[in-house]
Amino acid sequence: MTTTSFSGARRYIAVLGTGGTIAGSSAQAGANLGYTAGTVPVSTLVDGIEVPDGFILHTEQVAQLDSKDMDLDTWHALQLRCEHWLAQDEVAGLVITHGTDTIEETSFFLHSVLQSPKPVVLTCAMRPATSSNADGPQNLRDALAVATAADATGVVVVCAGEVHCATDVRKVHPYRLNAFGSGDAGPIAYVEEGKVRLLRSWPYEGMPEPKSDRKSLPAGDRWHRVEIVLSHAGARSDLIDGLIRERQDGHPEAVAGIVLAATGNGGVHHVLEQAALRAQAAGIVVLVATRCAEGRIIPAPDSLLPMAVDLSPVKARIALLLQLRDKVKTSH
Ligand code: SIN
Repeated sequence: MTTTSFSGARRYIAVLGTGGTIAGSSAQAGANLGYTAGTVPVSTLVDGIEVPDGFILHTEQVAQLDSKDMDLDTWHALQLRCEHWLAQDEVAGLVITHGTDTIEETSFFLHSVLQSPKPVVLTCAMRPATSSNADGPQNLRDALAVATAADATGVVVVCAGEVHCATDVRKVHPYRLNAFGSGDAGPIAYVEEGKVRLLRSWPYEGMPEPKSDRKSLPAGDRWHRVEIVLSHAGARSDLIDGLIRERQDGHPEAVAGIVLAATGNGGVHHVLEQAALRAQAAGIVVLVATRCAEGRIIPAPDSLLPMAVDLSPVKARIALLLQLRDKVKTSH
């Protein structure tokens, strides 16, 4: 674990590497596909990247993985390293290099647990570092522009010149360089020629108030299990009934929460809804989130199940994981 402390009047940006395509490499020179994510060290990624005036970069490799394989232990390690760097007066902000596949989850997780007002800017790439059209270097420059911008605060994702709030961002495209959207909220800013053009104001809507009990996340093995079940045409109850059975059988890793990825305005197939009510009765916490890419749920007065009105299913799962974690903490 790094315990570097700084001296002098210059300000630092800590750049934390976690892997992803931005750190990907291919044996086939210049190729965009068929590469391995998470191979190039973050110290190499920043080589030759211009640093905004008055700032110095400090790199740390926190993880090196393909973000489809992101896990709770890595989130825990990343949270601790973010807290370490954010606590240093000389550090103005953080940049985190990450895979695009789950960057919306990691950014929302950090948004939910970090307390510092300093900017935490996640960035990524759709082409590996060895591609002849690598987009990582520009994304990294743009992320540094945001991390060093006056007044920037909170957790954001920077990709293809757009700055997205952690609350809104989603991966919306599997291939194109501009792979992210923020639904009807839109990006909070653009980065153009190294300058941040703000469309709304900092702090962005939905940023949590600092909360003293956000620290001390348990290690991965103490998290509760929360699953996402998709509502779709022809849905069956077997999945949820199986989860209920595991719980009733006292399975050590039985599910504690279920997020129902609902159609439209919180609609859940009636077979799944009945199963979800049985799950609730068995002590499983159920939360409904819409699978629509835009908008938010406007709960009907007769909704039978609680709704995460403005979260995607994957973010609702994180909210539920943290809610259940908080429950455990306060019950001790
Ligand atoms: C990953 O998410 O780590 C791989 C895909 C990407 O970064 O685009």
